Amino acid sequence: MAIKKIAVLTTGGDAPGMNPAIRSVVRYAVHHKLEIMGVFRGWWGLINEELKNFDSRSVSGIINQGGTILKTGRCPEFKTLEGQERAYATIKKFNIDGLVIIGGNGSFAAAHSFYEKYQVPCVGIAASIDNDVNGIDYTIGTDTAVNTALDAIDKIRDTATSMERIFVVEVMGRESGFIALTVALGGGCEDVLIPEKAFDLEVVCHDLVHGNLIGKMSWIIVLAEGAGKAAEIANKITEITGLETRAVVLGYVQRGGRPTSLSRDLALNLGKAAVDCLIAGKTDIALGMTQGKIVEVSFAQAIKKKNLNYEEFYRLIKILT
Ligand code: F6P
Repeated sequence: MAIKKIAVLTTGGDAPGMNPAIRSVVRYAVHHKLEIMGVFRGWWGLINEELKNFDSRSVSGIINQGGTILKTGRCPEFKTLEGQERAYATIKKFNIDGLVIIGGNGSFAAAHSFYEKYQVPCVGIAASIDNDVNGIDYTIGTDTAVNTALDAIDKIRDTATSMERIFVVEVMGRESGFIALTVALGGGCEDVLIPEKAFDLEVVCHDLVHGNLIGKMSWIIVLAEGAGKAAEIANKITEITGLETRAVVLGYVQRGGRPTSLSRDLALNLGKAAVDCLIAGKTDIALGMTQGKIVEVSFAQAIKKKNLNYEEFYRLIKILT
């Protein structure tokens, strides 16, 4: 059956590039003479009928904006049968033939379970600063977040070098060390602590003291939020080594800001591809970029734990320090 009407929503943590992705979905759908609705506040909007008809003008002026004009959030109600039933009722009421879900692996897990129950065609666009969608090299927003964090690290480097200090800089990533590893490598940082890899602070301190003895006086340790708290780690380092430390938490600045060219290109191409997939009758898949190409990964695959090749990062970070 040919689809006539689709809806687009953003769910989970926002990522810079969601807006250009929405723009692309909407305008490409209009180009194909499909009706298109924007759903507000993610799954919550489907449950509570918070959606409206969009046209090309609905997405004007957003290509360079961070965040999402559709709003987003995590939605515990959608995990309940009642929530899913209500979302399905909204889809039936508004004659929606397919959904484009812009989000990360939590969003895809929800979409997968929804598709299995109700057979509503669902196509995901991988958008998350954490870059933790399995089977996909790059998600929308990661490049922007990494550049934001790197910009901060470069600035911290100036003061770290000038005052010969040790910094522990906490970046985002509750379950993923991707941002931490990428900025540690790109920022020439001396160490990196991530949730995927157990670490021994005594060893970190040993390296620090040794560095100190051979004249390396400033040090930046990047810490992914899932591996600890910057202030605690910095205090422990001071306790063990007697050296002065400073802690910085970069926090939510990493989730905001103008999407970089890479995040935007990805968003615009994936938006188009998602509409093409729905037109072609594809469903239960997430789209992302792998080895420079757009790939379709089943939701079931996409939500598995992504295997981050952290040993390679570590090796290079340590060799180049
Ligand atoms: O979007 C991913 C992420 O930013 C993680 O890096 C972080 O741990 C989490 O979201 C924070 O979630 P919340 O916005 O619910 O505080």
